[in-house]
Amino acid sequence: MTTTHAPPLSRGTRPGSGAGNIVVLTGAGISKESGLDTFRCADGIWNRVRLEDVATPEGFQRNPALVHDFYNARRRGLHDPAVEPNAAHAALARLEAEWPGEVLIVTQNIDDLHERAGSRNLIHMHGELNKARCDGCQGVVAWHEDLALDSQCPLCGETGWMRPHVVWFGEMPLEMDRIFSALDESALFLSIGTSGAVYPAAGFVSHVRRFTRARTVELNMEPSEGATLFQETLYGPATRVVPAYVEQLLATAG
Ligand code: APR
Repeated sequence: MTTTHAPPLSRGTRPGSGAGNIVVLTGAGISKESGLDTFRCADGIWNRVRLEDVATPEGFQRNPALVHDFYNARRRGLHDPAVEPNAAHAALARLEAEWPGEVLIVTQNIDDLHERAGSRNLIHMHGELNKARCDGCQGVVAWHEDLALDSQCPLCGETGWMRPHVVWFGEMPLEMDRIFSALDESALFLSIGTSGAVYPAAGFVSHVRRFTRARTVELNMEPSEGATLFQETLYGPATRVVPAYVEQLLATAG
């Protein structure tokens, strides 16, 4: 565990709070101990399925049934009663509730574990498994069952246009303007459970270092691809390192 001292939280304070605003980036690692697979670990999803086939617009065009099967299996997996938010999700919900400044979670994950843990100020930049989008009317709706080619859009009534509301490689992640505004106003940037392999999320730490005085902290199982860009790094399972870090942070909030 390496820790370096950094400037106190200052930039991006909520009026009257005195504390700084916090942006937390999360990745698949934070949901691993809840029983959901990561992508690039040894037992990760991309070691079993070709991302070109199931996570690109071209793959969907080529074989939509394969893509629907892939996301239907992950959506069913998410509804398994054994899959619940873990202590790391709960710690971030506590941070949002108790921190005097703003706390925004920007998750790359398409699961709903942050919400189920109680987080409210949350952006799913890669979309959500429990939503579907109609390529006909562009409407986005809650969707909990299997999705198929003949699924009917509940908004425009058309069939054959429904797809998972998930951002695929080559597509623009969601709410990027809101994310960069929050990064620009942050006093602390936490990166949790992500390999730092996929942009633009992997570039957030460089943006924060270049344009703010925010403190940058990585909490992960092992050094990510961007590990050297963080002023502070804490390694270990998220259910151990995240609650401990949140406890320490709240103790400084006074
Ligand atoms: N606690 C903390 N970190 C963990 C744990 C754990 N229990 N288990 C694994 N990790 C770490 C791994 O060390 C790895 O660095 O989580 C990270 C997971 O990395 P990836 O599998 O690459 O997942 P992620 O970074 O979220 O991928 C980003 O890539 O394929 C796309 O859209 C997909 O959102 C995803 C994006």
